[in-house]
Amino acid sequence: IKVGVIFGGKSGEHEVSLQSAKSVIEALNPHQYTIVPIGISKSGNWQVGKNALKALEEEQNTAKKVSSSSSVSFINHQIGGLTSVSPQPSAQPVPSALVNDVDVIIPVMHGTYGEDGSIQGMLELMDVAYVGAGVLASAVGLDKVVMKQVFGSVGLPQVRYTSCTRQTWKASPLQVIRQVEDTFGYPCFVKPANLGSSVGISKARDREELQRAIELAAQYDRKIIIEEGLNVREVEVAVLGNDVPQVSVAGEIVPSSEFYDYKAKYVGGTSKLIIPAELTDRQRQEIEQYAVEAFQAIDCSGLSRVDFFIEKETGRVIVNEINTMPGFTRYSMYPKLWEASGMSYTKLLDTLIELAIE
Ligand code: ADP
Ligand code: DAL
Ligand code: MG
Repeated sequence: IKVGVIFGGKSGEHEVSLQSAKSVIEALNPHQYTIVPIGISKSGNWQVGKNALKALEEEQNTAKKVSSSSSVSFINHQIGGLTSVSPQPSAQPVPSALVNDVDVIIPVMHGTYGEDGSIQGMLELMDVAYVGAGVLASAVGLDKVVMKQVFGSVGLPQVRYTSCTRQTWKASPLQVIRQVEDTFGYPCFVKPANLGSSVGISKARDREELQRAIELAAQYDRKIIIEEGLNVREVEVAVLGNDVPQVSVAGEIVPSSEFYDYKAKYVGGTSKLIIPAELTDRQRQEIEQYAVEAFQAIDCSGLSRVDFFIEKETGRVIVNEINTMPGFTRYSMYPKLWEASGMSYTKLLDTLIELAIE
């Protein structure tokens, strides 16, 4: 089986994707699969071949554009109007040249353009099988506002929230502030609607911090979500399957920062993962049930990590979010949860590929 692994991309989570893809490429059994690494640089250049990952890592390190090396073919592909500087545009339509040649694609991309249905839509057009959620589930899962609306419609318990556009914020900030203060107040969490890895998220304890937090989130997205800030434990489960999804054991995260921000996730690595999480039977049952309901509510397939809050004061289980392409390094929660449930990293990849082509 020829497996294309796509990584990188024009997302705030580009670096995280490189880490995830590295683990995936290393773990795929070379006797079973022919692996074709396909990297997308931050500026939208497609790069194919065994050095593609290294090339993007170097680009990231030097923060400069790397030059074309002999074993990496650079293909200039402009997505979303970003102008690529080098190298020369390919005469061939890029995706078909890359994608027609493989049996299945693993889009190991997080956040915008990778986890939001964009790449999935392209793969649908190319008529190639791919791992994970389709266009709809990806798009709904990444947009925190639409995700919450869909979860709300099937009765999943969630935090209170409100949202605004960059435009509304600019035009009438006081209206947004009043909306927050009248519905739940402080502390609250402010987030760009379409991102991940805690990029652009801040906790606001008063009006001044709220203003600053919205300004920051508005730099990343035209849509902003503001949620009531609860005092919580954070518990996650892994879901795997298509129409009959399985749920892993639950894991708890104890962040090294005040909340699970980008630094606590990826820098220093002092956040703790506790697997299995210590839960009451009732909490465990609710988490399992809500995880499947969340997965099915967005019409998901393949995999997802569903993240929960447990309110410390009450023990109440609340759905925080679904991630249709969760962090996938060997040390990431998603594969670790399956490992703890008896499925190795390599077997997990085999299963995901089977689910994609079944
Ligand atoms: P991302 O998609 O970037 O992971 P999350 O919505 O999961 O964004 O938020 C990142 C982190 O911020 C959470 O893991 C948690 O630590 C904290 N957080 C987010 N929302 C809330 C909330 N409403 N109450 C308490 N903590 C929150
Ligand atoms: N968005 C990151 C990769 C995660 O959810 O794991
Ligand atoms: Mg999260």
